[in-house]
Amino acid sequence: MRLLSVTSAILAFIILVTEAKLAPTIRLNNGYEMPVIGLGTFESTSGDAERAVKDAIDAGYRHIDTAFLYGNEVEVGNAIRSKIEDGVIKREDIFVTTKLWSTFHEPDQVEKAFQRSFDNLNLDYIDLYLMHYPVAYRRVLQNIRLPSDDVNAFYVFPVDKNGNTLTEDVDYVDTWRAMEKLIETGQVRSIGISNFNSEQTERILSMATIKPVTNQVECHPNLNQRKLINFNAARNMTITAYSPLGRPHTPNGQKLALSEPKVLELAQKYRKTPAQIILRYTVQNGAIVIPKSTNKNRIQENFNIFDFELSDSDMQIMHGLNNNYRLIDFATDKDNKYYPFNIEF
Ligand SMILES: NC(=O)c1ccc[n+]([C@@H]2O[C@H](COP(=O)([O-])OP(=O)(O)OC[C@H]3O[C@@H](n4cnc5c(N)ncnc54)[C@H](OP(=O)(O)O)[C@@H]3O)[C@@H](O)[C@H]2O)c1
Ligand SMILES: *[C@@H]1O[C@H](CO)[C@@H](O)[C@H](O)[C@H]1NC(C)=O
Repeated sequence: MRLLSVTSAILAFIILVTEAKLAPTIRLNNGYEMPVIGLGTFESTSGDAERAVKDAIDAGYRHIDTAFLYGNEVEVGNAIRSKIEDGVIKREDIFVTTKLWSTFHEPDQVEKAFQRSFDNLNLDYIDLYLMHYPVAYRRVLQNIRLPSDDVNAFYVFPVDKNGNTLTEDVDYVDTWRAMEKLIETGQVRSIGISNFNSEQTERILSMATIKPVTNQVECHPNLNQRKLINFNAARNMTITAYSPLGRPHTPNGQKLALSEPKVLELAQKYRKTPAQIILRYTVQNGAIVIPKSTNKNRIQENFNIFDFELSDSDMQIMHGLNNNYRLIDFATDKDNKYYPFNIEF
């Protein structure tokens, strides 16, 4: 009797583990599949990123978003390799994104910057490499102990005495050509853009040999990006929604959708949390979401959005929250000719 219950407990456990639900995927314009939810890792450092990525994989996430800028590629790579070594996932089960920072836009810098990210992550290949932002920044030495060909020797946000960004006159189209060459190495499967507007996207598409698979932009109920999502869909490009929770920990973010009375009402109606309503909304709106958390409970909470659906009328209510409020506007380089946020979308 006792033996039986132990056996069935083990059996139930095995079924639970093997049936851990994964997220749906979107087919990219190059045929690869990208899970519609990934873990964001901006501001996750000092061990938090490694722990969070492991918790996320256990919760069912198969997509992780990092960047050279975030300083945590090594931690992210360690977490993924450890889950591969433990047999929890295989490399091809997980989609890993990292990004080219703006100080490395000159074509001859692109490969070097990529190699550093590739070495940091230490995985067999990277799924997606994004141009983080269309404006090129100057390389200003900050760490004189590092050789000047080391990517870590420079300020990531170089500024003058007045706090204005020191930019460099590099056309993102030339940067894109250098990124296309990375595909030939087999070290990266897909390339894409981030923080590009529709005109800049069109300009890339008009010259590209390899199309961007996605544009990663700020997107949440208060900046729902309907126009950019439709624009991209018409060109077989996806939108990845960053800051999908509206950065509730920041003073500006506190006022956004997570605390909207309408969102709280819908959370009661669907017996979901406000964060789940918001993330579900953006996925139904057609974007891929990458909420950041280093908290195990919230990592699980954010993933648990595939067992319900917002009705058409509730989607209309959510659409009504849009007020084009941008949290991340890169204001210190708004005079640059490649500044992306001077036009409607
Ligand atoms: N391409 C770009 O230029 C760009 C720019 C910004 C962000 N990103 C990417 O997008 C990711 C997400 O954006 P983000 O980090 O700016 O903002 P976000 O995901 O909208 O918000 C993250 C914040 O929300 C909190 N949070 C997480 N889950 C929650 C929940 N269920 N309820 C309440 N609070 C919750 C987190 O705290 P805890 O950690 O304590 O849970 C964290 O403080 C980034 O991490 C990064 O990977 C890209
Ligand atoms: C988009 O790309 C996918 C993958 O290559 C392809 O199967 C699909 O037909 C394309 N759709 C359009 C509208 O071009």
